[in-house]
Amino acid sequence: MLYADRIRQQIQVLGNVPMPSNEAIEHSEQLYLQLIDQLGDRSDNQPLPFVEVMEQLLHSPGLGYYSAGALKIGAAGDFVTAPEISAFYGFALANQCAEVLKVTSGSILEFGAGLGTLAKDVLVQLEKLQCLPEHYYIVEISADLKQRQQIKLQAEIPHLFPLISWLDQLPDEGFKGVILANEVIDAMPVHLFEMTANGPKDVGVVKAVDGELEFQTSTELSNEMAQWFARDEIQQLHFPEGYISEVNLIMESWIKALGDCLSQGLILLIDYGYPRHEYYLEERNQGSLICHYRHHSHDKVLYLAGLQDITAHVDFTAVAEAAFESGLSVSGYTNQASFLSGCGILQLAEAAAADDLDKQMQIAQQIRTLIMPDEMGEMFKIIALTQDLPLELTSHLQGFSLSDLRHAL
Ligand SMILES: C[S@@+](CC[C@H](N)C(=O)[O-])C[C@H]1O[C@@H](n2cnc3c(N)ncnc32)[C@H](O)[C@@H]1O
Repeated sequence: MLYADRIRQQIQVLGNVPMPSNEAIEHSEQLYLQLIDQLGDRSDNQPLPFVEVMEQLLHSPGLGYYSAGALKIGAAGDFVTAPEISAFYGFALANQCAEVLKVTSGSILEFGAGLGTLAKDVLVQLEKLQCLPEHYYIVEISADLKQRQQIKLQAEIPHLFPLISWLDQLPDEGFKGVILANEVIDAMPVHLFEMTANGPKDVGVVKAVDGELEFQTSTELSNEMAQWFARDEIQQLHFPEGYISEVNLIMESWIKALGDCLSQGLILLIDYGYPRHEYYLEERNQGSLICHYRHHSHDKVLYLAGLQDITAHVDFTAVAEAAFESGLSVSGYTNQASFLSGCGILQLAEAAAADDLDKQMQIAQQIRTLIMPDEMGEMFKIIALTQDLPLELTSHLQGFSLSDLRHAL
């Protein structure tokens, strides 16, 4: 079957979404053929582990979803993130950063800065508060997004642009200040497993007879997943036969690297997810992998290779455990609504456009999307990890002053 026909079939299954351009289909076919090559190469007759497939679908150089050039974030892309909904999101986060920068001085480092909007809004508000960081570093894996960030930030905040620089990796150690990552953990490749009658096994990908990429449960369990299942806290969970879910092991080494690099300051991680006891609920038995294509969310992870975002929810208990192992303290955990309210988003919004009714209505609508429980307010969580900060500060971080849900982790 021609690859374009395969994509046409997939689009039909997805329903009301536009057909990719011919150029996008060609690009997708290259990634598909690269994967097929690897599937054929396996001498052990086992499926290719899903974590490797997800890595390629998202980050294969020049071909993966984040590496390639199509517009991803925003109305003309596939999904919208909080910084793109309202500048007040970044302004509120900046208030939290300022509280810490006043004590530590130093810099801000943002991971995975998307279109650069959060960087812009945080810097604009910090300038107002007269609390600009020494540097605003960005670590961005996607060459395409890095270029978009550079163009946007130079055009929109030229006077602050000299503060911003892009790093290829984390500084080794000695970083002081604030580290931010908004919706980055959900984009990390995850391991997939299924509980079978013979115990847990890895889930991977094979090529079906008709040429489609297809999930298949391995007859084996990789060493890293065997070690995960052997942990005391995981042995307490009950996975019935047929239960499928995922584990983000890459996040753990990433948090360790953050802990090694931060000598004093705050790490704020924002994403959608739950504490572990909710993550691995018996009824959530098909995992949380979800794809975004042209503002349509669906679970066909192996469709549209390289043309759609693939994400998994975040197990915030695992984040807290990894932080603890890395010598960081967990100084707050709450939902987006409480965090933004604690950081004064409503007061910031009231003060803006006080004499422009239309603008006020527009801002009110944006803030509703950010904080209402049935929109982003409850599903998105913020966790604060700290290193070497005074107790007077860590016990009163403003974003966690209205509600602190650490007991639920
Ligand atoms: C879902 S987007 C979120 C973008 C932005 N933070 C926002 O909220 O609009 C994920 C971002 O993380 C980046 N990313 C994913 N994995 C990364 C990694 N290992 N290191 C740095 N950036 C990464 C992606 O390229 C992208 O910029």
